Amino acid sequence: MDLSNYRKTYDKRVLLESDAPENPMQLFQTWFYEADESDSVDEANAMSVSTIGLDGFPKTRVVLLKQYTYEGFIFYTNYESEKGKAILANPHLCLSFFWPSLERQIIIKGIAEKVPENTSDGYFESRPLGSRLGAIVSPQSEVIPSREYLEERLHQLEKEYEGKEVPRPAYWGGFLVRPQSIEFWQGRPNRLHDRLRYTLTKDYDWKLERLAP
Ligand SMILES: Cc1cc2nc3c(=O)[nH]c(=O)nc-3n(C[C@H](O)[C@H](O)[C@H](O)COP(=O)(O)O)c2cc1C
Repeated sequence: MDLSNYRKTYDKRVLLESDAPENPMQLFQTWFYEADESDSVDEANAMSVSTIGLDGFPKTRVVLLKQYTYEGFIFYTNYESEKGKAILANPHLCLSFFWPSLERQIIIKGIAEKVPENTSDGYFESRPLGSRLGAIVSPQSEVIPSREYLEERLHQLEKEYEGKEVPRPAYWGGFLVRPQSIEFWQGRPNRLHDRLRYTLTKDYDWKLERLAP
């Protein structure tokens, strides 16, 4: 199928240096609020996480951002999954958001570390029972024999944990991604998009630069 006629004009908003605060997390917050409040964005906190795998290939998949602070971005996953192993071997990763209806993209390069155990415990306990059991049932990224394998394990665990606390498995928890650079992309007409990139300096200040689209 030829998609060469698929074309869209971007003209909803602008991103100027005068809109750019000193700290990119402030701009992230503004853009995140706008996405979250927009009826046209579903799951504003869905983001792509790209890792360099143990096989040498990059791989991108979607996860949910669960917290952001001035320190960085937190998501939760299985530390023994393909991405978990990749991150533990090489913590350099890339997060990205694309909110098409706002014609906006954010690309974050950063370094990941495990969040403290009590942070993972706190979040795990806040999850619905089904999600907590799901984390135990699923050996994420492993080959499994069938769908029934999961259903049966879930059924067994539902019985085993009836009326009991479900403990967080040690292999499940959060990663905090400390940003090294954050690029904000705003679509503009004639492909002359706005791209502002913040880079963390050695003195822990943020340097702001405009990139060619
Ligand atoms: C909208 C959406 C949200 C997701 N959220 C998460 C998440 O928060 N954590 C997670 O481990 N996987 C999440 N997934 C599943 C991942 O995309 C992926 O399939 C899984 O983590 C296994 O990836 P891996 O084998 O590369 O480690 C989500 C998928 C989608 C489409």
